[in-house]
Amino acid sequence: MAVNILGLSAFFHESACCLLRDGVLVAAAEEERFSRVKHDPRLPVAAFRFCLEAGGIGITDVDCVAYYEDPVRKHSRQLWAGAPAGAQLDPERPERAIRELLGWEGPIRFYDHHASHAASAFFWSGFPEAAVLTVDGVGEWATTTYGTGRGAHIERLAEVEFPHSLGLLYSTITSWLGFAVNDGEYKVMGLAPYGEPRLVDAMRKLVTSGPGGDFRLDLDCFDFIRGERMFSPRLSALLGAGPRPRGGEMTQLHMDVARSLQVVLEEILLEKTAWLHAQTGLPDLCMAGGVALNVVANGRILREGPFKRLFVQPAAGDSGGCLGAAALAHAELTGERPLVTGDGGAMRHAFLGPRWSPAEVARLVAATGLPALDFRGRTEELLEAVVDRLARGEVVGWFHGALEMGPRALGARSLLADPRLPGMRDRLNLLVKKREAFRPFAPSVLAAHAGAHFDLDHPSPFMLETCAVTSPLDLPAVTHVDGSARPQTVDPAVAPRYAALLEAFRRRTGCPLLVNTSFNVAGEPIAGSPVDALFTFGTSGVDALVLEDFLLDRGGLPDGWAERLAAWRLRAVPADRRSAISEELYTFV
Ligand SMILES: [Fe+2]
Repeated sequence: MAVNILGLSAFFHESACCLLRDGVLVAAAEEERFSRVKHDPRLPVAAFRFCLEAGGIGITDVDCVAYYEDPVRKHSRQLWAGAPAGAQLDPERPERAIRELLGWEGPIRFYDHHASHAASAFFWSGFPEAAVLTVDGVGEWATTTYGTGRGAHIERLAEVEFPHSLGLLYSTITSWLGFAVNDGEYKVMGLAPYGEPRLVDAMRKLVTSGPGGDFRLDLDCFDFIRGERMFSPRLSALLGAGPRPRGGEMTQLHMDVARSLQVVLEEILLEKTAWLHAQTGLPDLCMAGGVALNVVANGRILREGPFKRLFVQPAAGDSGGCLGAAALAHAELTGERPLVTGDGGAMRHAFLGPRWSPAEVARLVAATGLPALDFRGRTEELLEAVVDRLARGEVVGWFHGALEMGPRALGARSLLADPRLPGMRDRLNLLVKKREAFRPFAPSVLAAHAGAHFDLDHPSPFMLETCAVTSPLDLPAVTHVDGSARPQTVDPAVAPRYAALLEAFRRRTGCPLLVNTSFNVAGEPIAGSPVDALFTFGTSGVDALVLEDFLLDRGGLPDGWAERLAAWRLRAVPADRRSAISEELYTFV
């Protein structure tokens, strides 16, 4: 009898569900990809249904539900901090919701938030033993933990507790810079290279490194414990200006603040990872928690720190907590370490979400009534047709295979473009992504060619570290202002069709890279279903859309097609019902 464990993250930022069967990760997805509510924090009912369907099981086949944090301990911290006005603090809410909304009557195991992060990194790393670092805003009490993983066990060596938090430091400055907390941190990181580190002394007053793994925030400058804002007036006094209003003018000071924050964060992480290395004597490091998505810091930890190898869980934020919770439950129930891929190796891909069969997509395309080129059975011709469009400067929406788990599009739900074109970055930013012009795009590169274009000597399949661009090609669309990029190395054994597309582009142009950005417009989650992809196509400036074996060209579509698609989507069945999409969606056209 197989051991089926469902992992859940919910009720804070980005809920998600995964299915672990006999220790093998069968399925995982964020709720936002189904509900279309960005960062949806609700119990992941749709992702739960998807996981059961992907595993071909019913709820009675599930042995255990594993939840990614301890609501009672979290409640104790919330009570200590003082509940914000109107907050509903109820430590029994997760269990009640799991019982009522999922109909689950069996055992629920609750795991510590940072233990879940640690497990999501170590068990998925493939390392037999490794040092483990988790860093985020806050879990129950811990904000940073240091430990070791060996076999089926993870031991915590030390921790830093709330309110001292590198994640909340970063989020506080994010808020001061006029961006949304838990969303705008990427923007601050992208802004940093435009600034000068002339405020590092002020930043070092905000956060002071202590002995061992410890650090302290100057709490006079923060107001997140009880206040309505993240920061106090003291922070503005320290930085020499008031906070930037949301959407306000971006000045050099704002860029200098971002740069100084980034520098000080990197300093502390370098110091603490060096300490962790000295404590453990282990050559490899695993990381998770929201701060582990700071890809610039990750690159420096690997290049300048003492660890030989670094594995960062691609779903390093709270959505990935479900993976760790499920893994911990598996280790407790069986005494064995979970296997990620079934072969005992490291996590090689994140294609763990829903996929649509060629027949389903064919029916969907037919239902739209839109003219589409049908390349079924002619994959090479499809790829050549896509290369035609990329080579003439078009932006292509690329929908293929199973949806990615985690914040990055990795070639399953991506927007692709030629990275050599000088105007491509602005075009993507203004017309398609509709986001700030300063934010860089990331490239995908054939793994075998990565070393010829980047200062990178190891695979980087999840876009989790930055490195210097060393390419003989001019790559303005993917090279940041400081000469860095955040490449994804693509292995043909892991993503055959995407790799074949890159190879076809290389044959035609000599360039084995493409711009790869997520298939969504600003404010929307990444497209999950083909319906979402069609809708994004209709509401953005994307030139062409690949839906598995079908290719739609914007220029070939009839007048009013986008409005028709929009109306059509409103009439579609709820997006959280995958099987319903397969069966019922086509009935109205
Ligand atoms: Fe977290």
